[in-house]
Amino acid sequence: MNKKTVRDINWNGKRAVVRVDFNVPLENGQVTDDTRIRESLPTIRYLMEHGAKTVLLSHLGRPKGKVAPEFSLKPAADHLAKLLGKPVTFIPELNDAAQQTVNQMQPGGVALAENTRFYAGEEKNDAALAQKFASLGDVFVNDAFGSAHRAHSSTEGIAHYLPAVAGFLMEKELDYLGRALGDPARPFIAILGGAKISDKIQVVRSLLAKTDYLLIGGGMANTFLKAKGLDMGASLVENDAVDTAKTLMDEAGGKLILPVDAVVADRFAADAERKIVSVSAVPEGWRILDIGPDTVKTYTGMLQDAKTVVWNGPMGVFEMAPFAEGTFAIARALATLPDATTIIGGGDSAAAAHESGVADKITHISTGGGASLEFLEGKTLPGVAALADE
Ligand code: 3PG
Repeated sequence: MNKKTVRDINWNGKRAVVRVDFNVPLENGQVTDDTRIRESLPTIRYLMEHGAKTVLLSHLGRPKGKVAPEFSLKPAADHLAKLLGKPVTFIPELNDAAQQTVNQMQPGGVALAENTRFYAGEEKNDAALAQKFASLGDVFVNDAFGSAHRAHSSTEGIAHYLPAVAGFLMEKELDYLGRALGDPARPFIAILGGAKISDKIQVVRSLLAKTDYLLIGGGMANTFLKAKGLDMGASLVENDAVDTAKTLMDEAGGKLILPVDAVVADRFAADAERKIVSVSAVPEGWRILDIGPDTVKTYTGMLQDAKTVVWNGPMGVFEMAPFAEGTFAIARALATLPDATTIIGGGDSAAAAHESGVADKITHISTGGGASLEFLEGKTLPGVAALADE
């Protein structure tokens, strides 16, 4: 990564205003998955140990510029305090009292401000709001890789008013994803799944240019198979994208690999009747809900020689146990590769790695869903572009 980091600053007594991504799931006022909070601890601890006064900013959910108690970050502040074993001051509103609170903080202290998206200006990258956020610190640290694809006041705008450096999580994400796309050990194989091809046209193009093979699964495979002239029965197919799928297959040469068999169901339900069929024999009225065992065998076989693997998007409807095996088998295959850097691009595939119990055997699981996808598309992430170059 060619950006300045928290290591480049002498923090003693300085105020660090740190954008984290604490957009975490909550249930009954409790954090139910604290991965993103735990992943930001190295930066927060570093700042504490180096005498900074740390003010954290984050969004939670999509409250659309309105104060909405169900999207309060207070539970995240309490959770962080538990993880740190130190009090975390919660700043409910950015008013004069907030400035006083920050001014009175001791070196090593930590505060978390309320949801940045309670302000209407946040998602518009409003300059006045960015200045308000900037007034909380002497240096801006962006550790929110998961939000780096958003050009918002707290992710991008603020960097115009303060020296801006990356935190350790941001650095780790950019190093792993950047190396995979920029200088991958080969063979480099990407696995792409998820429901829709239309969301992933750019990522398919970008990965075709960089990988040795691109293995396709999930609902998006159906649109490719239809483009090959196969009858997909009642499966999800994006008819508008069939021509695009044809073009992508022409561009791909032999690199784009499609499922050969599938688990089909007579309804979209966990208790539906199901069977395994060739992709050329989907019965009328049935739908593909997972890749089949021959496809799993082909894909895991191809993965054995890989030196770099990037995976984004499930192979089937893994939320329903009868259709989870294809996705879990890919997760297990990644976990047992003898000699590969394995990277999971956030979101559903990250959840699948956790649910199949192999998350700790994956080299890097990104904390960004949309952000990692945009990175894989080859886009510049505004939250990264705004940071000072090394
Ligand atoms: C995420 O969960 O992907 C990030 O926190 C970004 O959230 P957003 O899609 O609401 O901007």
